[in-house]
Amino acid sequence: MATTKKKKPISTKRKKITPPKGKLGVLLPGMSGAVSTTFMAGVEAIKKGMGKPVGSLTQMGRIRLGKRTDKKSPLIKEFIPLCELDDLVFAGWDIFKDNCYEACLKAGVLDKELVEELKDTLKQTSPMPAVFSRKYVKNLNGKHLKSGKTKMELAHQLIDDIKNFKKDSGVDRLVMVWCGSTEVYIQAEPVHSSIKSFEDGLKSNHPGIPPSMIYAYAAIKCGVPYANGAPNLSADVPALIKLAKKNNVPLAGKDFKTGQTLMKTILAPGLKSRMIGLNGWFSTNILGNRDGEVLDDPYSFKTKEASKLSVLEYLFQPDLHPDLYSDVYHKVRINYYPPRGDAKEAWDNIDIFGWLGYPMQIKVNFLCRDSILAAPIVLDLVLFLDLAHKAGLDGIQEWLSFYFKSPMYGEGLYPEHDLFIQLMKLKNTLRYLKGEELITHLGLDYYNLM
Ligand SMILES: NC(=O)c1ccc[n+]([C@@H]2O[C@H](COP(=O)([O-])OP(=O)(O)OC[C@H]3O[C@@H](n4cnc5c(N)ncnc54)[C@H](O)[C@@H]3O)[C@@H](O)[C@H]2O)c1
Repeated sequence: MATTKKKKPISTKRKKITPPKGKLGVLLPGMSGAVSTTFMAGVEAIKKGMGKPVGSLTQMGRIRLGKRTDKKSPLIKEFIPLCELDDLVFAGWDIFKDNCYEACLKAGVLDKELVEELKDTLKQTSPMPAVFSRKYVKNLNGKHLKSGKTKMELAHQLIDDIKNFKKDSGVDRLVMVWCGSTEVYIQAEPVHSSIKSFEDGLKSNHPGIPPSMIYAYAAIKCGVPYANGAPNLSADVPALIKLAKKNNVPLAGKDFKTGQTLMKTILAPGLKSRMIGLNGWFSTNILGNRDGEVLDDPYSFKTKEASKLSVLEYLFQPDLHPDLYSDVYHKVRINYYPPRGDAKEAWDNIDIFGWLGYPMQIKVNFLCRDSILAAPIVLDLVLFLDLAHKAGLDGIQEWLSFYFKSPMYGEGLYPEHDLFIQLMKLKNTLRYLKGEELITHLGLDYYNLM
């Protein structure tokens, strides 16, 4: 008779999370951009009581504990120890040298009056010179740059910046969030496969290593948690994932899930849950900010397109539901249209079908503000990555998929795109970290059925 092998029990060992002490340094490559400046100015405005952190789960979200009848739903920030907004200190890099006040005005996202009120604080922060090459972002041309013979030399200059900032500012811990431009499309290749091949590539200036990977390498080498808000690979290659595991560094990415894709991952799971069929999904956008200008280059657009397209493929699982989703035409367009600035407009035409194949249509016209949707994501990632680090979680943080269009995922898995599953996963991770019972929503016990 075959002996049944005993399954290894899931580890219940949790590192005790101590409340954060001291300041948390937030490092932002792309510090002069729309997302970074809206995030930093927003935090300062919130600290002064000039606005509320709308869109931020860490600041406004609640988490249910125990049974529904217990009526216990504390604020997430009261449930789990997170760094306070007052303890955030900003630093970063950009290819333009404007201080944060000037950059915020140029980005044009926030009202001038609000920015003027924050002038004294914002003026105190300016970006450090960037690691940049036009080979990877063709439509930008800044002059505030580092120089070095090799990519390894540049990585060491970033490492020195990180160490010096930590020493000079007296921060206790650090987190880095890439808010830099979308780089040209690059696929993983042998240079990304091991720590050794990657470091050799840095020394030999391998073209497969763009600036965002050099920043990610520098962060991980310094033991700093890293998140990537753009769709370029950055830390999402085996070499950097291995290095992160080795150095106990949590990683998250890629590509902040904000406007149109946020809508997609709200609508698509709903349609799929009711087994409504899909023939096509046409998405188009106009946006006129610097991000739009960068994406006007077909090589950067290809990186963004791949990120935006992957969502539906995974969500609808055509292999499991061939009658409903095997023949979906999915198209995404982004058009640079300067008059709109950061106020993007997105249109979606969704061709669906129901009972007996009868066709129907849904139209979505989202007049959104890209950076207003992205800023709270940056805040949440900063606080949750710091938490993950303190809790001893390292490598890919799949529970933060909630924030990304193109979530990083472990070998042999597929990415989870359904916003509602992502949220459940995130909240259950918080419950797990605090030793609370996980919530399955089974609920039979309320009716004495178990
Ligand atoms: N705004 C959103 O809602 C949103 C959503 C998803 C993803 N993103 C991504 O987030 C990133 C930032 O968006 P944004 O709207 O702030 O763009 P932005 O163009 O306003 O800002 C990007 C900044 O990065 C700087 N930069 C480029 N390469 C750099 C480098 N190597 N080192 C340092 N700085 C560098 C640029 O000079 C610019 O100031 C983009 O990649 C964008 O695609 C944004």
